[in-house]
Amino acid sequence: MILEVLNEQLKKVLDKLNYQAEEIKIIKSNRPDLCDYQYDGIFKLASVYHQSPIEIGIKIEEELKKIDNFNNYFDKVEFVKPGFLNINISNKLINDILIYMNNNEKLGLKQPEKKETYFLDYGGPNIAKPLHVGHMRSAIVGESVKRIIDYMGHKTISDVHLGDFGLQIGQVIYGIIKYNKNINEIDLDFLDKIYPEISLLSKQDEQIKEQCANITKDLQDGNDTYIKYWKKICEISGNDIKRIYKYLDVNFDLWYGESDAYKYILEVEKIIESQNLFEISQNAKIIDIKEKTDTKELPPLIFQKSNKAYLYGTTDIATIYQRMNDYNPDHILYFADARQSLHFTQVFRACKKSNISKNVNLEFLGFGTVNGLDGKPYKTRSGDAPKLDDLFNEVKEIFISKKESNKEMLNSDIDKIVNAILKFADLQNNREKDYIFDIAKFSEVVGKTGPYILYTYLRINKMVLNENVENISQNIYNNYDRELRKKMIEFDLSLNNAFKEKAPSIIAEYIYDLCVLLNTFYQNNHINGLNNDLNKTDWIYILKLSTKVLKEMFNLLMIDVPTKM
Ligand code: ARG
Repeated sequence: MILEVLNEQLKKVLDKLNYQAEEIKIIKSNRPDLCDYQYDGIFKLASVYHQSPIEIGIKIEEELKKIDNFNNYFDKVEFVKPGFLNINISNKLINDILIYMNNNEKLGLKQPEKKETYFLDYGGPNIAKPLHVGHMRSAIVGESVKRIIDYMGHKTISDVHLGDFGLQIGQVIYGIIKYNKNINEIDLDFLDKIYPEISLLSKQDEQIKEQCANITKDLQDGNDTYIKYWKKICEISGNDIKRIYKYLDVNFDLWYGESDAYKYILEVEKIIESQNLFEISQNAKIIDIKEKTDTKELPPLIFQKSNKAYLYGTTDIATIYQRMNDYNPDHILYFADARQSLHFTQVFRACKKSNISKNVNLEFLGFGTVNGLDGKPYKTRSGDAPKLDDLFNEVKEIFISKKESNKEMLNSDIDKIVNAILKFADLQNNREKDYIFDIAKFSEVVGKTGPYILYTYLRINKMVLNENVENISQNIYNNYDRELRKKMIEFDLSLNNAFKEKAPSIIAEYIYDLCVLLNTFYQNNHINGLNNDLNKTDWIYILKLSTKVLKEMFNLLMIDVPTKM
């Protein structure tokens, strides 16, 4: 909101001076020691209007100083050579915006002129295989981006897109037959053991590998017995997956899987066929997806293997077809390991080429690997297939062992803290980068951690919980106070950037910065020692609003606040 207010004032002045700028964009100052905000557009105007930047800058400064109610907006505007306009905003403007935030829903965030539909594909766990850390990343990054988009006022639909029809199912069914299991004997323990066992056997024995592939193919073709097993496997494993996502507070509107795409494959095949886009190579049906501007050779998408089986790429194309028919979104976003980048390039290009994706914006948001202290993909202490449950338990244990009094905490509070540790550790990183998951470090109450931000919130909240202040004066009392208030009114800048970049890390950064400012404010202003002076009531209002801002931002990262710490 702050930038819109400033841009509007500047626009009036530029209009008056007959300067037409393509875009008026005041930005946060990159020299905060000199000013709050700055305008860098003067050079551009100078080249368009063939005037010197100094001449233009001085005129803008003079005219700005003449606007009505200058002091409602500005404390100081100053042109500085060679072509910058430095802006300090007035305390009144800061406080007006704070009041507006406090009195409006979503902190007064502006809603979009055009509401768009975003379809988000994240989570992507595989039935019958244990969920690993990568699936957690996809789930929490995806869910967080969904919440950010929702908060911005757009429509979202999320789909977990289960891997429920691939080779691993054939392997598990092979195991069921091998051990002569009755359908009622299939349970989670069995699934946990059988997949790794048969998967290993398939690697060692060509024949078993082929049998598993054949079972998978027969299942996809609708073999009754296999379908019965498959349903049972999906039920058991699916419930376990739901339990884990519930623990993480990750929610999906749709629980579709790869299997749901099968009924569209023939239609899609016809559409592609009718445009002569298939080629046959070694008996497989492929689509060439090369483009002229490619700098390296991209392999074709394999639509159907020589044994007539369909593949990961096929189901993804059919799924896009289904999503376009059912929801006609403006965007489809995919959250998966960055190593799947080629796969998505192939799928997107094949869909564009055949016009299956129509005008939708298809976007792959790849993420890096979660590494352990040794810099290699993260493993829990218990072994090499790190299950998420083990990870949750490990974090829990480490957090509890940090302090004697942690042992007495409510279980539900500990779960919230475990969630905050995991999510804040993950979401503060640039999505594309690998990061090192250091549980001991991320469980500390100091540093850029989940416990730190929760602790800050609880400390402030405790102070203002039972207070009720209706309004504030126009004062700001010192620099700690001003920096805090300024950060608060800038929440929408972070939100807009996080939305634009699809980057929860920007929200995490904002939360952390706000917490640091809150703590310095608190250490330097001894609010408890004050009587009911004006500054005390003003500060209570501000602090109470800060807890509101934090809470909304926590929610975007699925971080819930424990009752105490
Ligand atoms: N199941 C896949 C995996 O475990 C992720 C699915 C991602 N989504 C998609 N539409 N391909 O790697």
